[in-house]
Amino acid sequence: MVNWRWLLRMSNRSLLAFIFFFSMSTTCLYFIYVAPGIDYPDGSNSSEFLVQPTTYLPENFTYAQNLPCPERLPSMKGLMEVNMTEIPVEEIELKFSKLFGIEFGGHWKPKDCRVRWKVAILIPFRNRHEHLPILFQHLIPMLQKQRLQFAFYVIEQSGSQPFNRAMLFNVGFLEAMKDLDWDCLIFHDVDHIPENDRNYYGCGQMPRHFAAKLDKYMYILPYSEFFGGVSGLTVEQFRKINGFPNAFWGWGGEDDDLWNRVHYAGLNVTRPEGEIGKYKSIPHHHKGEVQFLGRYKLLRYSKERQHLDGLNNLLYSPHISLSSLYKNITVDLYPELAPIMDY
Ligand SMILES: *[C@@H]1O[C@H](CO)[C@@H](O)[C@H](O)[C@H]1NC(C)=O
Ligand SMILES: *[C@@H]1O[C@H](CO)[C@@H](O)[C@H](O)[C@H]1NC(C)=O
Ligand SMILES: *[C@@H]1O[C@H](CO)[C@@H](O)[C@H](O)[C@H]1NC(C)=O
Ligand SMILES: *[C@@H]1O[C@H](CO)[C@@H](O)[C@H](O)[C@H]1NC(C)=O
Ligand SMILES: *[C@@H]1O[C@H](CO)[C@@H](O)[C@H](O)[C@H]1NC(C)=O
Repeated sequence: MVNWRWLLRMSNRSLLAFIFFFSMSTTCLYFIYVAPGIDYPDGSNSSEFLVQPTTYLPENFTYAQNLPCPERLPSMKGLMEVNMTEIPVEEIELKFSKLFGIEFGGHWKPKDCRVRWKVAILIPFRNRHEHLPILFQHLIPMLQKQRLQFAFYVIEQSGSQPFNRAMLFNVGFLEAMKDLDWDCLIFHDVDHIPENDRNYYGCGQMPRHFAAKLDKYMYILPYSEFFGGVSGLTVEQFRKINGFPNAFWGWGGEDDDLWNRVHYAGLNVTRPEGEIGKYKSIPHHHKGEVQFLGRYKLLRYSKERQHLDGLNNLLYSPHISLSSLYKNITVDLYPELAPIMDY
């Protein structure tokens, strides 16, 4: 049959953008998603998904400092209010340092139980200053309810090259590990706001895709290999796959390459079930953001490139400063910083 899956996978984002701009008609979407013969799982009960117990601890649960923090806490109530109103950064800096006990630089850890996961939240960044406060406003209370130890790293790309989300993550990882012995990494887009505080940002036996259901994709997983938006790997898993590829300049493809790396390493991806994986995206214009057209070619050689391009061929010189709520790692990126041998 016509190779639809291939087509969908290779130009997923542009295709979705197309669907959104040129047709809001449900019949069209019906055809794309539900037409017979197109294997298009919505993920709700595919075997890739962990079966999660639905029981959460009762309100009267008592914490003990010498016991690990549980993963299903009574403080995790489910759907959260999402408020996209822009807030001045000073306002949330004050709020979170005074009332929520966030230490300068964006660190926090629970005091009433033993930390289960030490989580570094890595946020690639360029020109989205109004998004950061909105993200923190939602993320900080959620992570505290989940009793995770965490800190935020905003990795900002300077210079004039196209945005390289993946390389920023690699830089963020290497810098974060100089701070603390993190054991879990969350790769978080700045414009993705979780809607459910039961979406637990700890890691697991397998890499995890948190952003399973995005409002911009009508809460449907766009394709089963989709690994974009928000994902998480243990430090061990991330080192094993040699991090992200450095060669994806511009918009798209690097998350698909990460998916390939994970699978070539014999790992699978888990996702939160049902409502838990819902996210809202902060609306904005994609003005001036270039698509990476070379991604199809690179994706064909994911396997060959995995051990040549990633954490092991990366050079950079960051400019680092601390803010109240995060560490700012500013870095100029260009292709010569990730030299790659022929393959
Ligand atoms: C998938 O899950 C739904 C409920 O969420 C259930 O009704 C259905 O039987 C399941 N399908 C399979 C193939 O397990
Ligand atoms: C906690 O509440 C449950 C009912 O929600 C009750 O069965 C249990 O006995 C309570 N435990 C304590 C230690 O109070
Ligand atoms: C959203 O946040 C803004 C700024 O913090 C606040 O003024 C407004 O009342 C909030 N809206 C809702 C519906 O909570
Ligand atoms: C990953 O999933 C595949 C297919 O569901 C399964 O055959 C394989 O054993 C899984 N691998 C691991 C490491 O769990
Ligand atoms: C990060 O620091 C640079 C200066 O090194 C500054 O220009 C930029 O605005 C900062 N970015 C954020 C998100 O704080």
